[in-house]
Amino acid sequence: GRVVVIGGGQNVEHEVSVASATAVSTALRHSGVEVERWDVGTDGLWWIGGDPLGVTPAQSLAAAVMQLRATDVVFPCVHGPLGEDGVLAALCALAQVRVVGSGVAAGAVGKDKQWSKVMARDAGVQVTPGFVVSGADAVAFEREVVVKPVSSGSSHGVSLVADAAELAGAIRRAGELSSDGGVLVEHVVHGREIDVAVLREADGTRWAAPPLEIHASGLFDTATKYNGSARFTVPAALEPAETQALSQAALDLFDAFGCRGVARMDFFLTDHGVVFNEVNTMPGMTAASQVPRMFRAAGVEYDELVRRLVAGAAI
Ligand code: DAL
Ligand code: MG
Repeated sequence: GRVVVIGGGQNVEHEVSVASATAVSTALRHSGVEVERWDVGTDGLWWIGGDPLGVTPAQSLAAAVMQLRATDVVFPCVHGPLGEDGVLAALCALAQVRVVGSGVAAGAVGKDKQWSKVMARDAGVQVTPGFVVSGADAVAFEREVVVKPVSSGSSHGVSLVADAAELAGAIRRAGELSSDGGVLVEHVVHGREIDVAVLREADGTRWAAPPLEIHASGLFDTATKYNGSARFTVPAALEPAETQALSQAALDLFDAFGCRGVARMDFFLTDHGVVFNEVNTMPGMTAASQVPRMFRAAGVEYDELVRRLVAGAAI
């Protein structure tokens, strides 16, 4: 049947979401699947195949919902707020259409970096120590901290702060990009930066792809993520026990969050073991993104990965 791939979205990750949706659409077409490409503009206007659905965002949303009901499967590729946070999954649930990836709860919890810590701790995985501040709070700290929006992605609004004088500005910048204004201040974790992707197959089994290591000098920030300068090693050079610990943590987190489809768990590997940083329930799916690289290392090519994700779509 027909698959609707949704890209774009109304947040700072719009461009990445367009790139992910384009890559997914191309892969499905390679596989002979009938694809219809939808995009949500940053203004909230919905587009189908390059044509606006209506004149106002409200009109186009109503039209999109009508059309959703005539769709077999939706593949949402909208990262960040009003997409990955469960909002598109909720829309598909209301329209009773099968959707690729995580449902409402996993998306909502996973997109909130503070709730995610609570969930991970409960699953027995160490987390980056941190706390949420509101813009007015005075924060005293003795060492370097990372300041980030509670809900955003692709490292937009993330700062490394070593000097207390820079803190207020960093909190303000992060607050502007957080969908609920929440800002997280975290201790800098010293360790290797390792991602693990988990795929849930159509039969309900799930497995972890080989871990990927990110080599970034300093912060793996927005520019590094998308200007092609990031270096990855996959499979990461790890002891078998380290791979085992990372994979187990990723599987435990996938289950705890109740993820479906593919999710990418981002960790630090430290002297004190595996530390959870964040989960991406709609991880980047561009050719340069980590998830396709990890599955390729496991012998699953991109087109095949995308086919399996569609096969696992559920109401
Ligand atoms: N949030 C970006 C798209 C990622 O997870 O890769
Ligand atoms: Mg992210």
